[in-house]
Amino acid sequence: MASGKHFKYIVLGGGVSGGYAAREFAKQGVQPGELAIISKEAVRIILPPARRHAVAPYERPALSKAYLFPQSPARLPGFHVCVGSGGERLLPEWYSEKGIELILSTEIVKADLPSKTLTSAAGATFTYEILLIATGSSVIKLSDFGTQGADSNNILYLREIDDADNLYAAIQAKKGGKAVVVGGGYIGLELSAVLKMNDLDVTMVFPEPWCMPRLFTAEIAAFYESYYTNKGVKILKGTIAVGFDADANGDVTAVKLKDGSVLEADIVVVGVGGRPLTTLFKGQVAEEKGGIKTDAFFETSVPGVYAVGDVATFPMKIYNDERRVEHVDHSRKSAEQAVKAIKGKEAGSAVEEYDYLPYFYSRSFDLSWQFYGDNVGDAILFGDADPGSAKPKFGSYWVKDGKCVGAFLEGGSPDENAAIAKLARAQLPAASPDELKAAGLQFASKI
Ligand code: FDA
Ligand code: NAD
Repeated sequence: MASGKHFKYIVLGGGVSGGYAAREFAKQGVQPGELAIISKEAVRIILPPARRHAVAPYERPALSKAYLFPQSPARLPGFHVCVGSGGERLLPEWYSEKGIELILSTEIVKADLPSKTLTSAAGATFTYEILLIATGSSVIKLSDFGTQGADSNNILYLREIDDADNLYAAIQAKKGGKAVVVGGGYIGLELSAVLKMNDLDVTMVFPEPWCMPRLFTAEIAAFYESYYTNKGVKILKGTIAVGFDADANGDVTAVKLKDGSVLEADIVVVGVGGRPLTTLFKGQVAEEKGGIKTDAFFETSVPGVYAVGDVATFPMKIYNDERRVEHVDHSRKSAEQAVKAIKGKEAGSAVEEYDYLPYFYSRSFDLSWQFYGDNVGDAILFGDADPGSAKPKFGSYWVKDGKCVGAFLEGGSPDENAAIAKLARAQLPAASPDELKAAGLQFASKI
């Protein structure tokens, strides 16, 4: 067994939260050798000699967007954290200059919280005083449900940079071919757009009556579905993939749907949800709503162990509720909050409770939307939601108990997006549905 290494602080997971935690540690002050980030993520170099090289924390949202663009696709080091929020890009050299150890291409397979020890797949051990769990999510695979033929070649998922490279290679290899996208959520919508931009013949398949039902109302979804259809994306709703055909090489050739129809396919992209990576800690920390339960400082039920990003179920103060959030803004802010709390505790200084306003966004084709708050209660659509408009701009307010609790805006300017954020935070008393509809963005801009 390799000899053990000790660090005062270990961040387990070198994704978005891992990178933002490192920056906050550096801001608050760490001594060289005190902090390590351990992460399994690596990029495969396909050209001989085949090898994998380590990858420092980067902005994951780029993978489903600019990374797959047909022209000038984004590549590292262009989108290392913290460029996604307008900050300085943390290149691998930044970590060494700060004396922060990046232990990459290293998967932790065992975590023993009582002895404060992590063990890697290669048998190396790492001990710590404070642990920050930032392991994110893994994709749910169709093979998890035993879908027939789901292990065929070119049935692809997207979570890490290696997956994006596989997808990019498949797009190049199957130029002008047929792509089927399984799932109508974030991955489904963003990937259908980027595959279409690459001139593939794209069909989306999902079980619900409209896309992105977690957030979109039927009216919001109708806009995006028409816009996508106008771009040439075919949409099949209310059915699922139940099997796949493959050729003699094992390459996928067709998707069999529950309604009995069959779609030809050269590439299948699957986005049927994520699962928070909490397995290493099962039975060792309290869990809630599928995640690791934390307080408002992201400390878990085990003192000195913190959990941030996708894996944390934390008190959502504004709604007096406990929630888990799988979006990048929270992964950045929760990491910063946890590090402030760790350093505050050491210094004996008070840190304010996390008071998070949910913020999600997406971009595809020429579209760009932002959402703030809670999508509960009655939804009121406003603005120009005609997918044929030269520059559609529309939104929705959600009204609950007479208060405006959520706001969505497609095509907003930075000022307009800031206005809907302010409205959702303030939870202002709402006007009547007719007045809200007529006032549209004016209602938010008045605040
Ligand atoms: P994240 O997944 O970023 O990082 C976890 C890291 O831990 C990974 O590097 C993983 O390899 C490592 N790890 C896990 N287990 C390990 C182990 N046992 N040992 C070692 N390392 C381990 N959100 C949004 O608001 N807008 C957007 O546009 C997008 N776009 C988007 C695109 C794509 C393709 C994905 C997959 C996700 C998004 N998201 C998003 C969601 C957002 O990226 C996500 O919520 C954050 O990346 C979560 O940050 P974390 O640090 O929690 O996990
Ligand atoms: P999702 O939860 O957004 O969507 C899953 C979709 O899968 C559902 O809407 C449904 O249409 C579909 N589905 C479920 N079971 C199915 C089945 N058996 N057959 C066909 N379809 C089925 O999850 P995702 O799109 O896979 O995204 C994965 C993760 O990445 C999430 O955490 C998400 O938040 C994150 N992500 C976020 C963004 C963003 O915020 N812009 C972008 C990409 C990814």
